[in-house]
Amino acid sequence: MQRIDLRSDTVTTPTEEMRRAMAAAEVGDDVYGEDPTVLRLEEAAAERMGKEAALFVPSGTMGNLVAVLTHTTRGDEILLEAESHIYDYEVGGLSAVAGAVPRLIEGRRGKFGPDDVRAAVRAPNIHFPRPSLLCIENTHNRAGGTVWTPEEVRAVARAAQDLGLRVHMDGARIFNAAVALGCSAAELAAPVDSVMFCISKGLGAPVGSLLCGSREFILAARKNRKMVGGGMRQAGVIAAAGLVALDTMVERLAEDHENARRLAEGLSSIPGFRVEPEAVQTNMVMADVTGTGRDAPTVVAMLADEGVLANAMDSRVVRFVTHKDVSAADIDAALAAIGRAVATLR
Ligand SMILES: Cc1ncc(COP(=O)(O)O)c(C=O)c1O
Repeated sequence: MQRIDLRSDTVTTPTEEMRRAMAAAEVGDDVYGEDPTVLRLEEAAAERMGKEAALFVPSGTMGNLVAVLTHTTRGDEILLEAESHIYDYEVGGLSAVAGAVPRLIEGRRGKFGPDDVRAAVRAPNIHFPRPSLLCIENTHNRAGGTVWTPEEVRAVARAAQDLGLRVHMDGARIFNAAVALGCSAAELAAPVDSVMFCISKGLGAPVGSLLCGSREFILAARKNRKMVGGGMRQAGVIAAAGLVALDTMVERLAEDHENARRLAEGLSSIPGFRVEPEAVQTNMVMADVTGTGRDAPTVVAMLADEGVLANAMDSRVVRFVTHKDVSAADIDAALAAIGRAVATLR
């Protein structure tokens, strides 16, 4: 049986060109600042984000944690969207490791506006933690890969910065946003103080993320990365794949977005699945499966029996993610398999 893995774009495997670059990578000890391939990747990342400097970290989670550690002091308050990855899926590191107190903003499809920021920041008072950081997520994972435009980013960033806060963007999939909007990642990142993006998701590299910001911020972040155990040695072996990812894998994300729309349209005609194809902006499709009479984990198990892997987001919603290792023909095969699985329910 064909296995079509739509659980996440993190399941992508490196391309042949990446494997060749990894095998040939020139390396050194990066904790000494001597790995030329890591230095090249950091330079390329900073340039793509329009920032002064960048830091290679093993994961998006560590990139976000290091950003929080660097922007805040223990006991500070951080404003985050209620379903943001940093709050929901990073093991509470913002509090457990950085000592920060989250203050949640209810988003609409993962987004909010400057008024929401102003409403969330309380006037200084001896009782309150000091609000010092706003985080936004572009694209927003739990909201289904939704995109913040440069104007939307600018508006919330300005509101936060006017109130004395810094702004960090969890841009794990910032290139999906940029490709969907037809703008550069640098335009999206221009208003924020720091941005993290992943090379290990839709871009297909095996490991790693980049945290980008001012030279001064990255200098401090480098020390925090060392503190949380992220100082890597001959990391050029993995950074080499990241350079190939930035050179060859960004523009093709448009294909993943097309496949996501194709999937959404197909799913919307499967009985019991409720999908809004017009809500699909990038490479994620959220399907409410309550109409099948089964909960999402049960539907996920049924689909797995037909060779289609997806993730249950909660009891009602199944998430499908398209990526470079899934073709349009695979999407059609997945739709046929899902149709077969659902037919057994009637
Ligand atoms: C929006 C977002 N931020 C951060 C991360 C964390 O990345 P990693 O899995 O590399 O720690 C993810 C992972 O899926 C994500 O979706």
